[in-house]
Amino acid sequence: MKPSQREILFSNDVLDVVNKKYLACKEPQNTWQPTDYLPDFSKEDSLGRILKLQEDSRNLSDAFFMALAGNMITEEGLPTFLTWINQNDHIGDKSGVDDHAWAKWARAWSAEENKHGDILHKYLYLSGRVDMRAIEVSIGEFIRNGFSTKTLNDPYRGMIFTSFQERATRISHSRLAMDAKKVGDDSLAKICHVVAADEGRHEAVYQSFVQEIFYQDPSEMMIAFRETMKTGITMPLSATGAETFQFFSKVTEALGMYTYGDYIEILEFLIKRWNIAKIKGLNDEAKEAQDYLCALPERLKRIAERKKPQDIESIKDPLLWVHKNERIIQENQEERLFFN
Ligand SMILES: [Fe+2]
Ligand SMILES: [Fe+2]
Repeated sequence: MKPSQREILFSNDVLDVVNKKYLACKEPQNTWQPTDYLPDFSKEDSLGRILKLQEDSRNLSDAFFMALAGNMITEEGLPTFLTWINQNDHIGDKSGVDDHAWAKWARAWSAEENKHGDILHKYLYLSGRVDMRAIEVSIGEFIRNGFSTKTLNDPYRGMIFTSFQERATRISHSRLAMDAKKVGDDSLAKICHVVAADEGRHEAVYQSFVQEIFYQDPSEMMIAFRETMKTGITMPLSATGAETFQFFSKVTEALGMYTYGDYIEILEFLIKRWNIAKIKGLNDEAKEAQDYLCALPERLKRIAERKKPQDIESIKDPLLWVHKNERIIQENQEERLFFN
């Protein structure tokens, strides 16, 4: 008889992978913490370091800060993410201190995600470049509204979602790091880079979970992949449906921080990563799913060709989350559109 999803998820082979990834996740005292990259108020030079941080931040546009704030708000929505992981069938941490590998991984992952919101929040606060209250309101709204990944508590679909989403997050933090580096803001570049590096590790972890399940339960995982892509992977802020956050996703698209083209590239990457075209031993429905997935990138590319590029001028209230009275005009034509 075919093993159940629970039996697959708790089989020795799958648990072995989850456990290895959990054990490879460093203890908090052995890894970076936000203070390592921010002025330390217990040190004499802290005020000088804050002034330097603020001075360096002036080389970056308001649009950049809008994007950075959106990334921070997403990270600060952590309570929602942990709730979501724990809602998944079988793998959830029911007691909050469950001893199985899935629960231990979810808590270790959350501890790392917690640092991302923390470091970006502190940086933005110290920079003086943003409207902290508006941002705090948005964090509250984000957590209060909640969001749905639409993966229906199915852990297979959930892991496809995280494999995708962690990669998308890594891309957007890396782009911010590159932009900061370009204008010589090395300390902010390091902050965005260290967060991006964590996201890169997270994507690899979730992708390895999916890989192992593809070995153990290829048909069900293939169908889960198709269903997740049919529903679409919506970034958490956009998934809340609130207008503020819809606006943020338009800005990220217009800025090229995370675009529809990236979406297609991530899909292509995952198809290659899991060797989707070559997977054997599938039932009929899974074979159909395999064909669907292999053809999907080209279909999405045709849709992308028909899509109008985001009209930046149509985006209203562009300075949301950024101080309205402290605009710094940049020479860059595209960025200037945001200041009108
Ligand atoms: Fe994160
Ligand atoms: Fe992550």
